[in-house]
Amino acid sequence: MLRYLFLLLILYWSCTSSRHNLPDAVVGEVGSNGMIVTANPVASEVGARILQQGGNAWDAAVAVQFALAVVYPVAGNIGGGGFAVYRSADGTSGSLDFREKASVHAGRDMYLDQDGNIIDRLSLEGHLAAGVPGVVDGMVRLHERFGSLPWEELLAPSVEIANSGYVLTEQDAHNYNRAQQLFKKFNSPDMLFIKEEGWEKGDTLFQPDLAATMSRIRDRGRAGFYDGETAEFIIDEMQRGNGMISQEDLDRYEAQWRDPVKGNYRGHGIISMPPPSSGGIALVQLLKSAEAFPIGKWGLNTVSTVHVLTEIEKRVYADRATFLGDPDHYDVPQEMLISDDYLAQRMADIDPKRTTPSQEIKEGKVDIIESVETTHFSVVDKDQNAVSITTTLNSYFGCKVIVSGAGFFLNNEMDDFSVKAGVPNQFGLLGSEANEIQPEKRMLSSMTPTIVEKDGELLMVVGSPGGSTIITSVFQTIMNVVDHDMGMQQAVNAKRIHHQWLPDRLIIEDQALSAKVLEELEHKGYEISSRGAIGRVDAVLVLPDGSLEGGADPRGDDRAIGF
Ligand code: DON
Repeated sequence: MLRYLFLLLILYWSCTSSRHNLPDAVVGEVGSNGMIVTANPVASEVGARILQQGGNAWDAAVAVQFALAVVYPVAGNIGGGGFAVYRSADGTSGSLDFREKASVHAGRDMYLDQDGNIIDRLSLEGHLAAGVPGVVDGMVRLHERFGSLPWEELLAPSVEIANSGYVLTEQDAHNYNRAQQLFKKFNSPDMLFIKEEGWEKGDTLFQPDLAATMSRIRDRGRAGFYDGETAEFIIDEMQRGNGMISQEDLDRYEAQWRDPVKGNYRGHGIISMPPPSSGGIALVQLLKSAEAFPIGKWGLNTVSTVHVLTEIEKRVYADRATFLGDPDHYDVPQEMLISDDYLAQRMADIDPKRTTPSQEIKEGKVDIIESVETTHFSVVDKDQNAVSITTTLNSYFGCKVIVSGAGFFLNNEMDDFSVKAGVPNQFGLLGSEANEIQPEKRMLSSMTPTIVEKDGELLMVVGSPGGSTIITSVFQTIMNVVDHDMGMQQAVNAKRIHHQWLPDRLIIEDQALSAKVLEELEHKGYEISSRGAIGRVDAVLVLPDGSLEGGADPRGDDRAIGF
C-alpha cells in the first residue's frame, strides 16, 4: 500500500514538472596519470609532486594533509581530526577514522553551570573546547598500511614551506584578520598570527615553531607528536588555559580502521564514512530515498526537485539527531536506517503540495548556523587508487588557541557533541543520548568523504566542508553527475540548496533558484534564506576514456592539478 501511494505521488510530480536549464558546461583540469584537488594551490602542488615522484594516492594524501596544516591553518591541521575513505585499484575499499576523542577526564555536563545551563561558548572557544587530536596517528597508520615512499619524504615539503614561508592569498589574509580578537583573547601577545596593522594579500608567513614540530613528526613518527617535546608543549598549553588533554589522553589516542558504509544509487556503488560520522549513513539515506523520484527528468533546482530533496533531508536530519553517535559507545542502528523498507516508510508521508512543518516531524529548538571552515581533498593516482579525506579543526582556527612553542592550532571539536540534550550546536544540529559526552568518546561528525563506483570501477571521489551542509553538498554533487549528466567541474560549480530539518528553513545559494521557483515554493509554505556559499566541494571524476577530470570549487582558492 505504501509503495502504491509512493508511485502515485511520483506520477503526480512527473506530470507537473518541466526540465530546467543546466548551468553552462565547463570542463575542469584533465589528466591521465593522476589528479589532486585541494582547497589550496600550494597544497595541491605538494600532492602533485609526490604523485610525479612515483608516490601513490595515499602518499600524496599524507603529504597534502601536512601541507594544509602549514598553508591553510584555518582548517588544515595537525591539531584536529578527520576521516579517510579509500578505494584501491583492485577494488577493495576501507576507511580510517582519525576523529578527535573526548579526554578521559571529560564528562557529560562539563559545559554546564550549576543550574544546568550551558556556559556560553565554552565548548567553542579556548582550551576546554579541544578534543584529543587524531591527525598524526591517522597519517602514520595510513602510511604504514599503504604508503610506498619513505615517511620523511612526505613530511619534507611541509617542513620546508613552514621554514621558508608562504605567500598569503586574499582569502588567507581575510581569514587571519577576522580572527584577530579571538587570537588575542586566548594567546600571548607575541602569537605569530596576531598582526596589529592587519594581514594583506602578498604577505609572507614564516612558521619556525611549526617547522620544528613537523621535523619531530618527520623524524619520530607518532612519537614526534604524542610524546616528547610536542606533547610537553601541548600539556603546558592545557595547563595555561585550564584545558583537559593529558599525557594519558595522548598515549591512548588510536585511529580506527572501520568498514565503510555502502549503498547503491541508480546502479552506482556508494562508499562512504560510517559512524562516528553521520555522513555516510545520511548520504545513503538521501540517495536511496531520492532514487524513487525522476530527479534527472525534473531538472536541477526546479520546484519538484527542491521540494522532494527538502522533504527527504528533513527526515534524514531528524534521524541523525536521534540515532547517530560514536559506535564504540552507542549502538547505532545502521542497517535499519539504510534499509529499503525503513526508508520507503519514512518518506511515505511526503506531500507534493505542501512542505511538512519540521515540528510535525520531531520537536526541537535551534539557533543560527555560524560560518566556519573544514577542508576536503581528493586524490587519484595513475593506477586509479583513490583517497578521499575530509579533515577539520571544526570552527575556523578551531578553538583559536595555538600550542605555544609548537605552532599549531587546536580544534574545538567538543562542540560537535550534544552538549545538552535538545540544545543545538553551532550548526543548529540537535543531538540526544547517542551523542552525549563521555570519556574517550568520539563526537558525531557530518564529514562525508565518499567514493562512487560504476560497473565495479572507480567513478568519482568527492567530499566537502560546511558543517551540517557537508552531507547535502555531497548528495547534490553526486546527483549532478548521475541525474543531470554534468561533468565534474560543472557539478561542483552548480548552485546548491540545503535543509537540515531544524531550523525549518530552506537555505539556498544566491541565485540558486529562479524567481518563479522561489514564488512557487513560498506558496507551498517554505521559509527560505540565502547564503553566499554552501559547501566547497573538491572532487575527481573518471571520464569515459579513463582520463580524470578534477573539479576544484570556485567558491575558494581551490586548485585541481592533473598530469
Ligand atoms: O565534523 C563535523 O561535522 C564538523 N566539525 C565539521 C565542521 C565544518 O565542516 C566546518 N566547515 N566549514
